[in-house]
Amino acid sequence: MRLILALLCALLALPAWADPVVRSPDGRTEVRVGGDGDGRLTWQASRDGKPLIAPSPLGFILADAPKLERHLAITGEAASSSDTTWDQPWGERARVRDRHNQLVLHIAETSVLKRRFDLVLRVSDDGIALRYVFPEQPNLKQLRIVAELTEFRIANAQGGRAWWIPALEWNREEYLYRATSISEVGLAQTPLTMQTAAGTWLSIHEAALVDYAGMNLQPAGGGVFRAALTPSASGPAVVVAAPFATPWRVVMLGDTAPALANSSLILNLNEPNRLGDVSWVKPCKYAGIWWSMHLDTESWATGPKHGATTANAIRMIDWAAANGLCGLLIEGWNKGWDGDWFANGWEFRFDQPTADFDMAAIAAHAKKKGIGLIGHHETSGNLANYEAQLDAGMAYYARHGVTMVKTGYVADAGGLQVAAGTPGIDMNGQPRALTYEWHEGQASARHHLRVLEAAARQRIAVNAHEPIKDTGLRRTYPNWVSREGARGMEFNAWGNPDNGPGHEATLAFTRLLAGPMDYTPGIVSLAGRGQKIPSTLAKQLALYVTIYSPLQMVADLPENYARAPKAAMDFIRAVPVDWQESLTLAGEPGSHVVTARQRRGGQDWWLGAAGGKTAVDADVALNFLTPGTRYRLTLWRDGPAAGSNPQDLAVESRIVTSADRLALHLAPGGGGAAARFEPVK
Ligand code: NOJ
Ligand code: CA
Repeated sequence: MRLILALLCALLALPAWADPVVRSPDGRTEVRVGGDGDGRLTWQASRDGKPLIAPSPLGFILADAPKLERHLAITGEAASSSDTTWDQPWGERARVRDRHNQLVLHIAETSVLKRRFDLVLRVSDDGIALRYVFPEQPNLKQLRIVAELTEFRIANAQGGRAWWIPALEWNREEYLYRATSISEVGLAQTPLTMQTAAGTWLSIHEAALVDYAGMNLQPAGGGVFRAALTPSASGPAVVVAAPFATPWRVVMLGDTAPALANSSLILNLNEPNRLGDVSWVKPCKYAGIWWSMHLDTESWATGPKHGATTANAIRMIDWAAANGLCGLLIEGWNKGWDGDWFANGWEFRFDQPTADFDMAAIAAHAKKKGIGLIGHHETSGNLANYEAQLDAGMAYYARHGVTMVKTGYVADAGGLQVAAGTPGIDMNGQPRALTYEWHEGQASARHHLRVLEAAARQRIAVNAHEPIKDTGLRRTYPNWVSREGARGMEFNAWGNPDNGPGHEATLAFTRLLAGPMDYTPGIVSLAGRGQKIPSTLAKQLALYVTIYSPLQMVADLPENYARAPKAAMDFIRAVPVDWQESLTLAGEPGSHVVTARQRRGGQDWWLGAAGGKTAVDADVALNFLTPGTRYRLTLWRDGPAAGSNPQDLAVESRIVTSADRLALHLAPGGGGAAARFEPVK
C-alpha cells in the first residue's frame, strides 16, 4: 500500500509520503524512519523536540549475498500500544511495568532479489529499541552476517561525557571504566553510558542476545557509533537461518544517571519465562572456599594448601549456618586444577572430586545444616570439554542436592575453545578439532543457553563468571541468576591495580544497567594480599544494596569476620537479597550512588550509598517510605576518622518518616553508608 502511494507521489510529483514516526507514551521521545533517494533507510530520534540521534544507517553486509542496504522500500506498517505488568519470580522489583508504543515497518527490496525484513521500533519513556526480524523467504534462507550497519549518531556529542570499557581486548570485560569525552571513546563494549552536551543521559546496549554475536560499538568520529559485531573464527560473525530476529538495539534514556539505573527496559524487551515453575531458584547469601585462594593462602590445586578438603568444607558449612547464610561455594573440588589449569582445560572433570573431597559426606552435612552447596564448573574457556560433560556434570550435582552452579570461563578473550570439524591445535600443542572464539561471539551465546537449559533440566541455577554480557535473558531463563562480566572484588585481592575507590559507583551506571552482578562484597578486613582495599568498612556493607544480585557473597574469611565489629556483622547477617522494589536515588558514575530497596514480601527498606575518590555529601529525601508510618532508622556510616582509618564505622539510630531527609557524608577514598528502615508499631 505504502509502496503504491510512494510510487503515486513520485509519478504525480507530489511531496513524498510522510516518514513513519513512533513516540514514547509520555510524548517526549520521537523516533522516525527516513530514507535517501537510493532506498537506504535511516532511523533518527528526538527528545523534547530536540535532536537526540541524527539520521543513522540500517542494514547488513552478508558474506554470500549482496549487501542489504539499498533499494529498500517500506511496504506497510503496523502501530500498536501496550501497557502491561508482569511478575518477576525474584529480582530487584516484584512487579515490572512495560508501557510502550511500537511500530513495525515491513521492508522489501525493490531490486531483483526482493528480500524482506521487518524493522520493529519500540519506544517507552525510558528508551528506544529496534530490531530486525527476517521472515522465511526464498532468497534469504540463511543469513551469513559479516557486519551490521546499524549506527547510533549521537546529536550533541560534542562536549558530552562517556563511561566505557574497551572491546576485543584480552581481559574480556574486566577493565577499569574510562571516563572520557564522547569523542575520545574507542572500540567499546556495551552498555556504553553517555551524557550529551544537552544534559540527556543515555546508555547504548542490547537485549535478548540469542544465537547472535554480541554488539560492540565502533566510533567513527563526532559521536557516531557503528554496531561492531563480535567476530567469529570460523567465518561470518553470525550464521543463522530465517525466520530469525536480531537482538534489540537499545538506547536507554533518562534526565539523570539514576533514571538509567531505575529502568526495566532491558528486561521488558526479553521474552517471558520459558521455564515454568522456578520456585527452586532461590536468592541466597553465601560463603565460600574462595577468598583464601585469591589471597593465595589456600589453593585450588591439591597439595598442602588445598582449600576444598572435606574438613574445610565441613568447617565452612558450620560457619555459614551459624551466620544465617543460605549457601556455600566450594572451588577446587574437582579434578583438573593441578598444574597449569589455565592451559589444561581438557583435564577438568565435572563429576570427579579430588581424593581429599568426600562429596557424599559433605553434601549430607550441608543438608543437615540447611546449607545449599553452590557448585563450581571452571572450564578454562574450554567449551568443547565442558559441553561433552555438561549433562553428566549437572546430574552429578543434582544427585548431591546442589541447586546452583558457578561457571567460569577463564581464558583470554578470543580464546574460547569450541568443538569444530576442522583441525586445530590446543594450548599444549596437541592437535584438536576446535576453533578459538570470543567470549561475546555467537558460539558463546549458543553455549550459555545450552548450559542454562542443561542446568534447568536438573533444577539448577547458574552464576556465570567470565560470561557473555547480560542482555536480560534472566527473564526468559530465570535460572540465570547472576554473573560477573566486570572487574569484581577479586581484583582488590590481587591489587596491581585494584578497582579504585569509585569503581562500584561507576558500575551502578554502566555494567549494572545490563543486570545482576556477582561482585562478592563484604571484605571487612579491607585487605587483599597485603595491600589495602580502596574502601571504608561502611562501603563494604553498602555494596549489598547498591549492587543488585540475587546471590550475594559474604566473601571474607571467617577469621576476619570474627575480628569485625559486631555492628557490621549484624548488617551482613540481616540484609536481604530479594526485593519488592528498588530505587536509585542519587549519584553519577565514579562519584557515588545511593540506592534504596524494599525487602521482597516485607515492609522494611534498606539503603546503600557507595562513594568514590573524593568525599561526597548526599542529602536524600525519604519519600519512598510509606507516608504516615514511623520507621526506626539504623545507619551504618563512615565514622569521623574514616578518611584516614577506613575501619572507622559509626552506627546511629532514630525515628524517621517519609517527610524526612537523610544527610549522608561519604568519606574520601571510597566511603559509604548503609541503612535499614523498620516500621514501628
Ligand atoms: C575467576 C573468577 O572470577 C573467580 O571467582 C574464580 O575463583 C576463578 N576464576 C577460578 O575459577
Ligand atoms: Ca573473573
